[in-house]
Amino acid sequence: MFEKVEELTKEIKASVAESQEELERYRLRFIARKGELASLFQQLKDVPNERKREFGQAVNEIKKLAQDRFKELINGLENNQNNRQASDLDLTLPAEDPIGAIHPITATRNRIIEIFKRIGFNVSDGPEIEDDWHNFTALNFPPNHPAREMQDTFFIEKDPDMVLRTHTSNVQIRLMQSQKPPFRSIMPGRVFRNEAISARAHCIFHQVEGLYVAENVSFKDLKETLYYFAKEMFGKDTDIRFRPSYFPFTEPSAEMDISCDLLKPGTCKLCGGTKNICKGTGWVEILGCGMVDPNVLESCGIDSQKYTGFAFGMGIERIAMLKYQIKDLRLFTENDIRFLGQFKTEV
Ligand code: DAH
Repeated sequence: MFEKVEELTKEIKASVAESQEELERYRLRFIARKGELASLFQQLKDVPNERKREFGQAVNEIKKLAQDRFKELINGLENNQNNRQASDLDLTLPAEDPIGAIHPITATRNRIIEIFKRIGFNVSDGPEIEDDWHNFTALNFPPNHPAREMQDTFFIEKDPDMVLRTHTSNVQIRLMQSQKPPFRSIMPGRVFRNEAISARAHCIFHQVEGLYVAENVSFKDLKETLYYFAKEMFGKDTDIRFRPSYFPFTEPSAEMDISCDLLKPGTCKLCGGTKNICKGTGWVEILGCGMVDPNVLESCGIDSQKYTGFAFGMGIERIAMLKYQIKDLRLFTENDIRFLGQFKTEV
């Protein structure tokens, strides 16, 4: 029996585990309740009395040895695996399934920019925190004029008044002040209004402004430019119509609609047949536009006798909602992966 203990001691010391299976085999043999060591304990009763103590000690020692060795084998196996994983890891391999996608607002903005770039527009930028003059006064909104009520504004400082810009039209002014005509530019950006958040409105949203100032620019140029845009954005069959409107900085002013019943007459393409966007009229408003008011040109030091221009402004959310048939504006900012994951093809 003592020989058996010696023999097992040697085996335990010499044991190795290069895989989980080998480790498990070791465990079953030396640690488990029905293993070989457990049977040594059972043999204690057959040992003559005078050697019981000695044998008991030997068995306890080998039990401790087996447990220590088990821990060593576990550690050894883990280290081995870590080393192997580290060396198998090739950081230069391309990711298998890229996580993430271009946000639909960014994708729509990029698409708008791309379309206007093709017809000679460049891109301009301006501040989101703006003084009252650039956001309102220079755009022909006189102080205390009721037209200011059109845009419920976040004032962040009084006297002089500083606001979170309510539209991207401020960039028109900055552009006209800093450059000489002719210019043709689009101005994407974030804008802010004191609106309650709902499926159709948000206090933070995005616009793209457009401005073309040169000699002899007419409403005909405005129409053709926006017609081209509508077809490129929504498809070749898209029709447009203009409705008279009012903006302080343009005269005349208009709102532009695109047709909704394009591919299948009688159904609304944009509404997906539900008519809940065009309300059954077959037309959906997408932007405001007009000829730049001479007062605006003059307030930027541009000779309104020599130059004329057109301007337009559209909400990017609105374009994206129509293009992708998104029913609720809040989805754009909620970061729900189930929503964002649907735009993967835009990467
Ligand atoms: N700034 C207007 C708004 O936010 C949109 C707009 C309308 C911009 C007509 C223009 C324009 O440049 O000509 O409601």
